[in-house]
Amino acid sequence: MNLLILCTSLNPGSKSRLLAEAASAALTTEGVEHTTLDLRDLPLPLCDGGAAYGHPNTAKAGEIIKAADGIIIASPIYNFDVNAALKNLIELTGKGAWANKTVAFLNSAGGHSSYMSVMAVANSLMLDFRCVIVPRFVYATPADFDDTGISNDGVRDRVAACALATAELTRQRSD
Ligand SMILES: Cc1cc2nc3c(=O)[nH]c(=O)nc-3n(C[C@H](O)[C@H](O)[C@H](O)COP(=O)(O)O)c2cc1C
Repeated sequence: MNLLILCTSLNPGSKSRLLAEAASAALTTEGVEHTTLDLRDLPLPLCDGGAAYGHPNTAKAGEIIKAADGIIIASPIYNFDVNAALKNLIELTGKGAWANKTVAFLNSAGGHSSYMSVMAVANSLMLDFRCVIVPRFVYATPADFDDTGISNDGVRDRVAACALATAELTRQRSD
């Protein structure tokens, strides 16, 4: 089983990255192997439906996603959706990379009102690419963090539960 944590915020002070780090820590504690792809480390062109598909980093991103069985996406909420960097990654890599993956979401948002915002991309992955969406979301707001990291133990517990549920479902689906 190949489990990938995908960090899609390009903000150096990202809070969703802290959620990803907590997911990684929980998986490590339980001995679950995984890798991480941070989009800050793999600059991608904007999808233009043409030449961008030939960019070397597009190919690299596609290979990493294709090789994963399960993907835990840690992303910001921007304009009542996931951020454009994640959408761009999906546009660039498409069904060939994403088909049939087990996918979970850890989201960081500015307030509580955007709670359902992840559903547009979840529906797209589910209905277009036949991904199985883990029915455990984590949605955190600035109140769940302080200067040292995640300050809300409930959020930390939910991140761990989501990560381990993703690992278990991915394992079951890969058997
Ligand atoms: C362009 C932009 C749009 C945003 N739109 C929303 C929004 O629709 N709903 C919301 O709750 N927060 C919104 N926010 C706040 C971010 O979700 C919040 O800062 C979050 O921590 C970003 O994730 P990150 O820290 O991992 O980058 C927006 C922030 C930016 C910069």
